[in-house]
Amino acid sequence: MQPRNTLLRCAIYSTVIISVSAQSPQELINSVLNPALVSEHYSSYSSEIYFNHTLYNQTPVASTNYDKLEASAKLLLTPAGYNYAAGGAGLETTVAANREAFDHWHILPRVMRSVLPSRDISTVLFNRTLPAPIVMAPVGVQTLFHSSGERATSKVFGELGLPYTLITASSTGFAGVAASNGAGNPRWYQLYWPDDDDLTRSYLQTAKANGYVVLVVTVDTWDLGWRTRDLDRGFFPFLWGVGVQIGLEDPVAHQKLGFDALAANATAEQKQNAALYHTITTLRGVSPVWENLWRLREVWGDARILLKGVQSAEDAKEALKWGLDGVILSNHGGRQIDGAIGSLDALPAIVQAVKGKLVIGFDSGIRSGIDFFKALALGADFVQLGRPILWGLAHEGEKGIRHVLKSLLAEFEITVGLAGCASLKDVNETLLVENRR
Ligand SMILES: Cc1cc2nc3c(=O)[nH]c(=O)nc-3n(C[C@H](O)[C@H](O)[C@H](O)COP(=O)(O)O)c2cc1C
Ligand SMILES: *[C@@H]1O[C@H](CO)[C@@H](O)[C@H](O)[C@H]1NC(C)=O
Ligand SMILES: *[C@@H]1O[C@H](CO)[C@@H](O)[C@H](O)[C@H]1NC(C)=O
Ligand SMILES: *[C@@H]1O[C@H](CO)[C@@H](O)[C@H](O)[C@H]1NC(C)=O
Ligand SMILES: *[C@@H]1O[C@H](CO)[C@@H](O)[C@H](O)[C@H]1NC(C)=O
Repeated sequence: MQPRNTLLRCAIYSTVIISVSAQSPQELINSVLNPALVSEHYSSYSSEIYFNHTLYNQTPVASTNYDKLEASAKLLLTPAGYNYAAGGAGLETTVAANREAFDHWHILPRVMRSVLPSRDISTVLFNRTLPAPIVMAPVGVQTLFHSSGERATSKVFGELGLPYTLITASSTGFAGVAASNGAGNPRWYQLYWPDDDDLTRSYLQTAKANGYVVLVVTVDTWDLGWRTRDLDRGFFPFLWGVGVQIGLEDPVAHQKLGFDALAANATAEQKQNAALYHTITTLRGVSPVWENLWRLREVWGDARILLKGVQSAEDAKEALKWGLDGVILSNHGGRQIDGAIGSLDALPAIVQAVKGKLVIGFDSGIRSGIDFFKALALGADFVQLGRPILWGLAHEGEKGIRHVLKSLLAEFEITVGLAGCASLKDVNETLLVENRR
């Protein structure tokens, strides 16, 4: 019902007039010409792009459209590097299913709600306020995509105050990434769980000592999927010593091997052996089991532990039973089991099983701010970015990552507003319609 009461109407009109007249024409113009001065809203990134072009004839380093971004990254990368990131398991039907799952949901926006001037997309995760519910997915061997690798990605995520996840298969070690990520920024560590408890303990202790506060245990890749693009090239970067830095730097690994492969006098053979040792201990094909989780707790203490690679609601319930803090719904970007369920299609059941009891992260298929919206509306607490960031990294390192991340955040913030939401509290399934044919 519209208020017919004159007093009420005046009150409504005057609120609008006040909020507009609060800015002088010059302030209003400045807010668009130089958004950084007056506004921290992500959506101002579009003004920046339009004005940089109008005033300086400058355009961003890459496209704001995911498909075009991937296409230009492909031209910048080696065929092996591009295919390593783009590829999935088998016939890559799971890679496709991850995208199709997003098409099963459409946004039904609401209008005429008061959402200006600000749309609040901040969230609280593990007792820390984050500017947005966006986390860097653990992605290995980033120097394949640009020489600056993990140093660039961790720097940009740190700059924006968003969690950065260091991987066990990293080309930069714990301390190196901590330094580039910056003091005080939220840092997570992803474990490929070694079969050797001494190594596990050592990795976790080094992670803690370097300020990594959340442990992400990836449980879907204890053996490598059948990755046809890499198999056809025989491409496995770890064997030539790329993506094994954590193993090379580890003091317990030095003890066990009897040498330090990073020492100035280390031989080529020692370096090769150390690389093999790290690869085999972390990806050797021994499945982790619930009953051993206490071994991680023993070292990690009460700090948060998430299981990544959960797809079944039954496993999410097990995770709750075994005292984990959260699960990350992921099929590893379709890289492990060809024919697995599209990741977003698995979300509603997991939300129904554990929402509010476990933190629920989501990845696999996120390509745009629209996808953030859909996953969060369906009940995810945060979403992770994988391939889009790698394609950004391929475009001049940190410059490309910054562009991709700011573009995604802008599109998301704009969508939250245009759907009629003032904050993430308003983003829920009532704004989605299911569309299955
Ligand atoms: C090149 C590449 C390397 C990856 N390496 C790891 C890894 O070391 N550990 C891990 O848990 N997940 C790894 N992942 C999976 C990502 O964390 C994430 O689940 C996946 O990228 C999501 O799919 P999307 O990028 O298509 O959205 C990797 C993914 C890619 C593309
Ligand atoms: C706009 O130009 C400024 C100044 O050169 C630069 O710092 C900024 O990164 C540019 N933004 C975009 C989106 O290109
Ligand atoms: C949450 O953080 C605040 C301050 O940052 C701290 O005082 C409090 O103990 C924390 N609570 C938990 C449950 O960790
Ligand atoms: C390298 O030097 C260390 C002592 O500094 C020594 O213990 C080790 O045997 C040397 N390694 C080789 C391969 O010569
Ligand atoms: C969903 O969000 C809308 C605002 O967008 C709110 O009015 C509604 O109460 C919410 N519904 C549920 C079930 O939380």
